[in-house]
Amino acid sequence: MSPGTDMAGLGGLHRVLTTRDLTALGIAAIIGAGSFSSLGEACFKAGPGVVILFVITGIACGFTALCYAEFASRIPAAGSAYTYAYVSFGELAAWIIGWALLMEYSIGNIYVAFSWSDYFTSLLERFGMGIPEWLTCSYPEARKAVDNESLNEELLKAWNHAPKLGSLRIIFDLPALVINLLITWLIYVGIRESRNMSNIMVVLKLAAIVLVIVVGVIYIEAANWLPEAQDGTRAFMPNGFSGVMGAVSGVFFAYIGFDAISVFAEESKNPQRDLPRGMIYSLILCTVIYILLALVLTGVLDYRQFDGIGDPLAYIFEVRQNYTMQVLVAIIAVVAMTSVLLVFQMGQPRIWMSMSRDGLLPEIFQRIHPRYKTPSFSTLMTGAVVGFPILFTDKTFVLDFTSIATLFAFVLVCGGILFIPRKADGEPGFRLWYVNAKFLFPLSALTAFFLVAFLFPGYFRDLLDWSTGDASYKVSTLLFWVLLSILSALAYLKNLSLIPLLGVTSCCYLLTGMSASNWAWFASWLVAGLAIYFSYGRRYSKLNPSAIKP
Ligand code: ALA
Repeated sequence: MSPGTDMAGLGGLHRVLTTRDLTALGIAAIIGAGSFSSLGEACFKAGPGVVILFVITGIACGFTALCYAEFASRIPAAGSAYTYAYVSFGELAAWIIGWALLMEYSIGNIYVAFSWSDYFTSLLERFGMGIPEWLTCSYPEARKAVDNESLNEELLKAWNHAPKLGSLRIIFDLPALVINLLITWLIYVGIRESRNMSNIMVVLKLAAIVLVIVVGVIYIEAANWLPEAQDGTRAFMPNGFSGVMGAVSGVFFAYIGFDAISVFAEESKNPQRDLPRGMIYSLILCTVIYILLALVLTGVLDYRQFDGIGDPLAYIFEVRQNYTMQVLVAIIAVVAMTSVLLVFQMGQPRIWMSMSRDGLLPEIFQRIHPRYKTPSFSTLMTGAVVGFPILFTDKTFVLDFTSIATLFAFVLVCGGILFIPRKADGEPGFRLWYVNAKFLFPLSALTAFFLVAFLFPGYFRDLLDWSTGDASYKVSTLLFWVLLSILSALAYLKNLSLIPLLGVTSCCYLLTGMSASNWAWFASWLVAGLAIYFSYGRRYSKLNPSAIKP
């Protein structure tokens, strides 16, 4: 098959996407609730030092994007990391990745839908069209506010004014549900329409973000970049480095999305050339934007002012009494988050389609609509998977859950590159540069170890002191150092390639910022996934010679 000339991909999908479209889709998926919503909490936790986390996360995602790019160029089929894991590790790992990606695309979209609703309802209020509080938040959020004696008036009103069905209070986020329905319909009717919408939204969003940065610069007070720490000194990282790492979920969530475009391999005109380019261009651009945004936010206000702020970009202008900018930002936020919803909701059905082709899901998941040429059943199913939990989950929970699962998937993608044979010279498409890690990696690991010990004298002693501090952070950090030693030995023995190795290392490092409860939820999710695999996928798998034909 010549990817450049085919009008239809393997599954009958239209081949219409170019590098520009893919870059736009990447930006559409990346910039959204992470920058408009979770950035506030990240600034509060990390202080101005959140910028460092954006750099670290940008680097980790950069290595991962290069690995995705190599895979996308070698295996230009829809399915993204799921398909890559299938090729590198086999069916079980592929299933695990597919299961984890469900968190990224569908559960992540729940967070985006909630954030979309926050901005949308505050816009409506500004134009005098408020809707009752019990229709603008989720049940658990309102319940938690009452249980914790929160001062959040909107949540308390939602609880107190909600109509009742027997003893059950009716509280749900109506705008989040409605936007999910609209997006599902748009994707159902076709990729061309979705692409055009997405391109327009990206242009709007970029223009507006540049405006936020330019106008925000006027309000910067440099002293905010060195706020007072607990010990009275002024510091860029007022809560220390552990405070910075505590913001990983929010910051990482802001980056998720560059990988989503790999699911459009079968709809790209020339996937081997355009997919890697689209992914890398969009990631570079967004990294620069995030660093500037974080500098503006923490420069305009003291980081402590972002406590509990879900609309930080509008909030800085509210505090500075620039109401025009405040409304403008709120409108842009709604547009930006719509485009994220669009791309993620397009990604999920395409992964399910690939899993279904391999026999891991029922055949109905690969059904293509005869007229619209879109995966019809999978698209509707995605709408349901995003829509139902909107009724009974809350934002923080889905944010953490999405980030841990996606990081896990990234580790497997980078690890996968280490396992597949290297591309021969002269083969077409993107090829990841091979730099032998034999000496470089172990030497870098040793240097990191001595640098940390030298620059932060109490670091290793504190890690081993179980009487104080966050035990889950200590366990995961110690495991990280153990992993670094194992990877160093493997790099030396097997002449591993440096870039994917750095991808695995940097993503594992970000995982050390996850809390014990994140790990517990993620482990339960994996166990549930394995139960489904062993009761269905394995029996019907096309790889299994004794598989049952559905
Ligand atoms: N990166 C995407 C967002 O921030 C998921 O909304």
